[in-house]
Amino acid sequence: MSASNRIQSLPLHLANQIAAGEVIERPASVVKELVENSMDAGASQIFIDIEGAGSQLIRVRDNGEGIHRDDLSLALSRHATSKLHSSDQLSHIASLGFRGEALPSIASISQLNLSSRQQDDECGWQVSANIETISPVAHPIGTTVEVHDLFFNVPARRHFLRGNKTEQHHIATTIHRLALCQFEIGFQCQLSASSSIKLPVAITAEQQQQRIAKICGKSFINNSLFIQQQYDDIELKGWLGTAQAHRPQTDVNYFYINGRVIRDRVINHAIRQAYSDLIPVGRYPAFVLYLTMPLDRVDINVHPTKHEVRFRDARLIHGLITKAIQEALASSMDTPSVDHPNTSYASELQTNSHIAEQTHHYQNQPILSSHNISTDDFGSITALLHQRYVITQSTQDLFLIDLQMAEHSLRRQQLELAIKTNSLSTRPILVPIKVSLSTEQHQAVIKNRDLLLSLGLDFQEQDNHLVIKSIPSLLAQVEIKQLIHSIANTLSNDHTKIEQLTTVLKRQLPLIPIQNVQHAESLIKQLSISNNSTIWCRRLDQKTLSSLF
Ligand SMILES: Nc1ncnc2c1ncn2[C@@H]1O[C@H](COP(=O)(O)OP(=O)(O)OP(=O)(O)O)[C@@H](O)[C@H]1O
Ligand SMILES: [Mg+2]
Repeated sequence: MSASNRIQSLPLHLANQIAAGEVIERPASVVKELVENSMDAGASQIFIDIEGAGSQLIRVRDNGEGIHRDDLSLALSRHATSKLHSSDQLSHIASLGFRGEALPSIASISQLNLSSRQQDDECGWQVSANIETISPVAHPIGTTVEVHDLFFNVPARRHFLRGNKTEQHHIATTIHRLALCQFEIGFQCQLSASSSIKLPVAITAEQQQQRIAKICGKSFINNSLFIQQQYDDIELKGWLGTAQAHRPQTDVNYFYINGRVIRDRVINHAIRQAYSDLIPVGRYPAFVLYLTMPLDRVDINVHPTKHEVRFRDARLIHGLITKAIQEALASSMDTPSVDHPNTSYASELQTNSHIAEQTHHYQNQPILSSHNISTDDFGSITALLHQRYVITQSTQDLFLIDLQMAEHSLRRQQLELAIKTNSLSTRPILVPIKVSLSTEQHQAVIKNRDLLLSLGLDFQEQDNHLVIKSIPSLLAQVEIKQLIHSIANTLSNDHTKIEQLTTVLKRQLPLIPIQNVQHAESLIKQLSISNNSTIWCRRLDQKTLSSLF
């Protein structure tokens, strides 16, 4: 046997090049890896410069936390990462990167310079992949990666690159995909001398809509509906193009799981299925959707580009997505529901015509005794504290309000009034929930089926279990099993009056954190000074203030 047939370790540089083959297909792949690193570093601004459609230069600069001077060379070596330290952490990865492969892979097929400066450094430090030493460099806080002459030593790969326009298009698409997953980061990209992308930080609902309109087109935002559905600890929210707004391509298909761009067969199939009867064959739906779920229920470590995932329970996720979309599309064609669980929270993004229509409808319902409501009662908000308390100022007075309690009290009133006026709307449960009860409780529930139906609670009997199919919309956030147990317990104690059940339902309503100032403002407008406002409101008159000191 000749020496060349014996097993040998690959030289490091060659191993890196093979790894690069998996993740770096074209210049856009480099942009993805570098921008993801900037996002993981907590940057709020990311600047990207492209020359020669990425073959000559890709420069990504950020204002993130930077890299420690002593770690600069390590960042370029294989399997060196600051994001994963033990195998236990693999099931809880929240960062976009974790393999420690991107920078060494890119460095093996280009001329790469890495410069960085952390907050306490007096200057920046730079390392080049082919020079061992690090040298000082003028640099603001953050990191810059410059990738020159991509694929210079892999001519086959360079040969497969398409024309400049196509490669620039791939880069723009990559930036758009990443920009839709974090609105609080600003992006600026000079794609060529004549073409650039500017996406300023988007905090308010209006700014976020502008970003979506820039990326997906104005017609998408005008022909879509905002959804927000929760099933246990899984949430699906985002914008769904209406059935009429189908497109010839899948260009407006954005799906994110826990902040990560995903192109997954299970997800695609679920979405197609939801739209299947509504759009013509050969046409595609448009959507920007965000699925949030516990990190350990989805494995992201299955594909080098991390675009594919493996779900612990793929069938549940598939069913949940299809059902949520089908229901949202169906309800957008019907009259909007009165107290849709998400209406108040979706209100952050309301210029969308469907949502505006729903909100208008909601505000005109008897549930809110609108003649009581004076938007000036509490004036305007001057501060929001701990996502719970606000200080407001009216023409006369200052108020300190426990907004979480006020919101809770408002929802209790809404629930009571909706039950009294028989105007309670129901919400189907995405994946029906099975509850097992004692025989006595089970029988009490069956006996009072009509009463429960009038409260929006629908169920089926199945093998000595109850399968819950719908609940009142106003109880969308409650723990359903606990709710059914409390109701069954009340009924089995012969408390079968609607007032008694109303009290049970009211007790189940959870406190909900105030999301942001817009949320607080919309709540303040719904509050009025009334008998029960002393529970959640203090007028800060001179007497109250002096009692504090
Ligand atoms: N822009 C940046 N700001 C701060 N640190 C960075 C930046 N880019 C890279 N790093 C550091 O360099 C390390 C290596 O980066 P690299 O992209 O190779 O690996 P990773 O992000 O950890 O994993 P993956 O290969 O999955 O992307 C990172 O773990 C991080 O500590
Ligand atoms: Mg990385």
